[in-house]
Amino acid sequence: MKAVVYRGPKSVAVEDRPDPTIQSPTDAVIRLTTTNICGSDLHMYEGRTSVEEGKVLGHENMGVVEAVGDGVDRIRVGDRVSVPFNIACGTCRNCQTGWTSFCLRANPTEGMDGAAYGYANMGPYDGGQAEFLRVPWADVNLLTLPEGTEHEDDFTMLSDVFPTGWHGVELSGFQVGDRVAVFGGGPVGLMAAHSAVIRGASEVYVVDKEPDRLRLAEGYGAVPVDFSAGDPVEQLMQLTGGRGVDRGVDAVGYQAHDGTGDEHPELVLDNLAQVVRATGGLGVVGVYMPEDPGASGDLAKEGRIPWQFGTFFTKGQLMGTGQAPVKRYNRQLRDLITTGKANPGAIVSHHLSLDEAVEGYQHFDDRDPGWTKVLLHPAGV
Ligand SMILES: NC(=O)c1ccc[n+]([C@@H]2O[C@H](COP(=O)([O-])OP(=O)(O)OC[C@H]3O[C@@H](n4cnc5c(N)ncnc54)[C@H](O)[C@@H]3O)[C@@H](O)[C@H]2O)c1
Ligand SMILES: [Zn+2]
Ligand SMILES: [Zn+2]
Repeated sequence: MKAVVYRGPKSVAVEDRPDPTIQSPTDAVIRLTTTNICGSDLHMYEGRTSVEEGKVLGHENMGVVEAVGDGVDRIRVGDRVSVPFNIACGTCRNCQTGWTSFCLRANPTEGMDGAAYGYANMGPYDGGQAEFLRVPWADVNLLTLPEGTEHEDDFTMLSDVFPTGWHGVELSGFQVGDRVAVFGGGPVGLMAAHSAVIRGASEVYVVDKEPDRLRLAEGYGAVPVDFSAGDPVEQLMQLTGGRGVDRGVDAVGYQAHDGTGDEHPELVLDNLAQVVRATGGLGVVGVYMPEDPGASGDLAKEGRIPWQFGTFFTKGQLMGTGQAPVKRYNRQLRDLITTGKANPGAIVSHHLSLDEAVEGYQHFDDRDPGWTKVLLHPAGV
């Protein structure tokens, strides 16, 4: 089969790989219909992780079940499915309490709880930017979807960005009527804004500097804030009559930059501590790394990020962090899509074949205007 493979910083290639097979009775193999490029893939693409060369990328996967092992009884060949980016055993302590993003069994890497497809430090699993994908513990992990091809662009957001945006809002301690500031207008930030609106926020702001992303935020009912036009904290204070917001979502992470493009890993955390009201909450789903050898500062190389912890403490704020447990939300979010209450597919900008993945990575990484969310279709566009 064909697969998208990491070949070093700023380099991916489409190569031939053996088709995956059933290795354990609880496995399934799926044929991909849609597999997305994610902002998380860019951390690897830019050489800012320890991912090994030769890794098949892709953790935002959906398709049709091609084969199942003898121990699979819920999922059938031919089912249309969404694959959560987390690989969960379903029976460990964390899985059983709803934290499939911290599964204790799926990742053999020392000191790491939680596994994913095609990702640095997340276990030996191939990604799904390929024609086929092996899914461990298929009965636990796969979400079934209505047959056919309807809502493909919406359902493909169920593997990661829609649940992750929802989780960012959840981690912030959101309550109905809250004012929410989302930092980052990429797919995750846009999904956090969409989630906050659906959940009954009184006002939602999205901070970014890319005009096309800010326009999409407006389309979801959020107020755009352009951080290249001035300090976003000042702008948000003005917009809220000096009160600040109740909740803040970090959908940027450790590669946050200022208006001139210089990287400051603490920037969004500082902004949030300042703009969230006392006793409000921060949901941090933007990624931070335990080590970041590619960082410019010595502290950041060791994964140490000096930020305004004193402000955070003094204001009695709360913070939640980490990878999203997709299974906790994806069933309900699927149903919001089928009943027309959610339209996450509005962020899709490009449909490409697998062979066009190399260009897709380049344009998405450059944040070229209009390249918001790239979908690859291994079975044909
Ligand atoms: N926690 C999880 O489970 C999870 C899942 C998926 C993605 N992520 C992470 O979420 C983050 C966002 O993902 P994405 O796909 O939307 O990525 P993306 O790179 O497409 O979007 C990030 C956006 O942040 C903007 N930005 C940069 N600096 C900023 C600043 N100082 N203030 C406001 N905006 C700023 C950029 O212009 C860009 O539009 C990434 O770190 C990704 O790894 C986490
Ligand atoms: Zn992703
Ligand atoms: Zn588990």
